[in-house]
Amino acid sequence: MNSLVRFLIASACSVLVVILGYGSLGYAQSESGVPHLRKQGSATQLIVDGQPFLALAGELGNNTATSLENVQPIWPKLVSGNLNCVLVAVSWAQMEPVEGRSEFALIDGLIQEARRNHLKLVFLWFGSWKNGLSSYAPYWVKTDYKHYPRIQITGGKTLELLSTFGDATRDADARAYGALMRHIKEVDGVLHTVLMMQVENEVGVLRDSRDRSARANTAFAGPVPKELMNYLQQHKESLSPELREVWAGQGFRTSGTWEEVFGPGKPDSFDMPIQTKSPPMSVEEHETSWRKLHWPVDEIFMAWNYARYVNTVVEAGKKEYDLPVFVNAWLQQPNHAWPGTYPSGGPVPQVHDIWRAGAPAADVLAPDLYLEYFDEVCTRFTRNGNPLFIPETSTNATNVLSAFGKFNAIGFSPFFIERSAAADTELAAAYGLVSQLAPAIGAQQGKETITAARMNQGDAPLDLKLGNYTLTLTYVGLGRVPIAPDPSATAAARDPKAPEAAVILIAAGPDEFYFGAVGGGIQIAFTPITPGRQIVGLGDVQQGKFVQGQWRVVRQLGGDDTGQGEILTVRPNAPLRVTVYHYE
Ligand code: DGJ
Repeated sequence: MNSLVRFLIASACSVLVVILGYGSLGYAQSESGVPHLRKQGSATQLIVDGQPFLALAGELGNNTATSLENVQPIWPKLVSGNLNCVLVAVSWAQMEPVEGRSEFALIDGLIQEARRNHLKLVFLWFGSWKNGLSSYAPYWVKTDYKHYPRIQITGGKTLELLSTFGDATRDADARAYGALMRHIKEVDGVLHTVLMMQVENEVGVLRDSRDRSARANTAFAGPVPKELMNYLQQHKESLSPELREVWAGQGFRTSGTWEEVFGPGKPDSFDMPIQTKSPPMSVEEHETSWRKLHWPVDEIFMAWNYARYVNTVVEAGKKEYDLPVFVNAWLQQPNHAWPGTYPSGGPVPQVHDIWRAGAPAADVLAPDLYLEYFDEVCTRFTRNGNPLFIPETSTNATNVLSAFGKFNAIGFSPFFIERSAAADTELAAAYGLVSQLAPAIGAQQGKETITAARMNQGDAPLDLKLGNYTLTLTYVGLGRVPIAPDPSATAAARDPKAPEAAVILIAAGPDEFYFGAVGGGIQIAFTPITPGRQIVGLGDVQQGKFVQGQWRVVRQLGGDDTGQGEILTVRPNAPLRVTVYHYE
C-alpha cells in the first residue's frame, strides 16, 4: 500500500468518526469551505469551517518536525499548553531531494498526528530562503550555481543566498510549492487541518543593502517598473509615511531610474558591518533608527524584486489549493537598523506598499515580533488593513490579549514552542482565557465593541470608551484592593515584582459585557455615555466560559466577590460575563 492510499484510508476513518459524532474536536468539521480570510469591520478573520478561528499557536524549532519520531513527545505538551494550532516547517530540500520527485510521507504523518491531537496546522515553506539565506534549498539547486545564481555583495563576494534575479530558481521553487499545495488539497481538502501557509522565511539580502550581481545592477540602473509607479500614484495618499517621505524628497517623480525616483543608495564601496556600528549612531538615532528607511532605494528595490518572486511562488500554490498565505519579516531593530544588518527587502512596514504592489497574492505581511515595542509594531503592521498574524514571538501572556483584543489578530505563535509549552504557564493561562471567550471575541473583532488594555502597578486609572459606557480601569494586581496610583512614583520606584496585568474588554450588547484578565486583576467602573440615569448597577456577574458556542456559568458572583454588588474586579484567568443597569 503506498503512503497516499494509507493516508486516504486513515482520513476516511477520521471523517467517519466526525460524522458519527465521536470527534472530540473543539471545532466543527464540515465541508463548508476551504479556510479563508473574511473582512469584519476593520478586522480580517480566518474562517475555518464557517467560524472565525483564533490561532492560539506556537512555532516548532526549525528542524523539530523533520521526522515523526522527533516530534512525537511534543504533541502532548502542545495540548497541555492550550494550543489549538502549530506552525511547522516544510523543507524544500527534504521534500524534493531529487529534482521533480516530491516526498510527502512526512507531511502526511504530521497532518495525521495533528488531527489525532485535535490541533490545526500552519506549514512554513522553507524554499529559496530562510532567515535571508538559502540553507533549505535542495542540494541539486545549491550545486548548480550557474543555473540557480546567488547574490553578489560589495567586493564581488557571493553568499549562500539565492538571487531574486534567478528565473530558473523562482520557477523551480514555484513548481515545488505548487506540488506541495496540490498534495495538501488531496489529503486535507475536506477536513481542513492545514489552515494557512507561510511562503519562504524572513527573506531579504544580508551583509549588503542590495544584490550587486550583474543582472541586479542592470535592473537597478534601469527604470522603476511601470506597475510599481502606477501603484504608488494610485495609493499616494495612503502610503506608509516613511515611504511617502522618501518619494516626496524626489518630488514624487512618476518615472525614472530607481535612484531618480527614490534617491541615492549605499555606495558600492561601503562594506556593511554585521551590526549597525559604523558610522556610529547617536543615542537618539539608536532609539528611532528602527522605524526609518536608510538607503531607501536599496531596500525598496529589493522589496520589489523579492515581492515579485514570492508572488510567483504563492500564485503557483494558490492555483492548486487556495489557502491564505502570509510572508514574515525579520524586523529592523536598534542595533540592526540598516538594510543588510537585517534582511533588506523583507516585508517590514516601511515597504509594505511595495510588497502589496509586487505580491498581491500574499494575503498577510507578518512580523516576527521579538522587539519590546509590541503594541507599536502591531500598530505598524495593521496599517492599511493588513491583517495581523504573529508567526514568531515570545511567550508574553499580556501580549496575547493585546494581539487578539486590540489588534484583531488572527494568530499568535511563540517560537520554539516545544521548549515552553506546558499546562502551568502564563501562556497556557492566556490561551485558555482566549479560547473560553473565543465566540465573543470572534463576534466583535473589527468593531468598536472590543479592545484590550495593559496596566502596571502605579499606573493612573485608565478611561476607555466601549459601547455605551466609559470604563475606568484600575490596577489591582494580585491583591484584593486597587493600588492607589502615585503620580510622583517613578517607574523605578514601583514594586518590580508586581506583574503587568492585561484585560480584554468586549461589549456584546448595549448593557452586556465579557471581560478576561491575565497577569493580575483589574477593577472596572462604568459611566454611561448616554444622558439620563447615571448610576450604574451590576446585574449578573458570572464567571464562566463558552462551550460549543454557548456561555456556561461556572460561578455566579455577588457578595464579597463583587464588593456587595458595588465593585467589579476582573481577576486573572477567570472570564466574566457582566450585565449592568442604570438607576437614580
Ligand atoms: C527567526 C527565524 O524565522 C526562525 O526560523 C529562527 O531562526 C529564529 N529566528 C531564531 O531565533
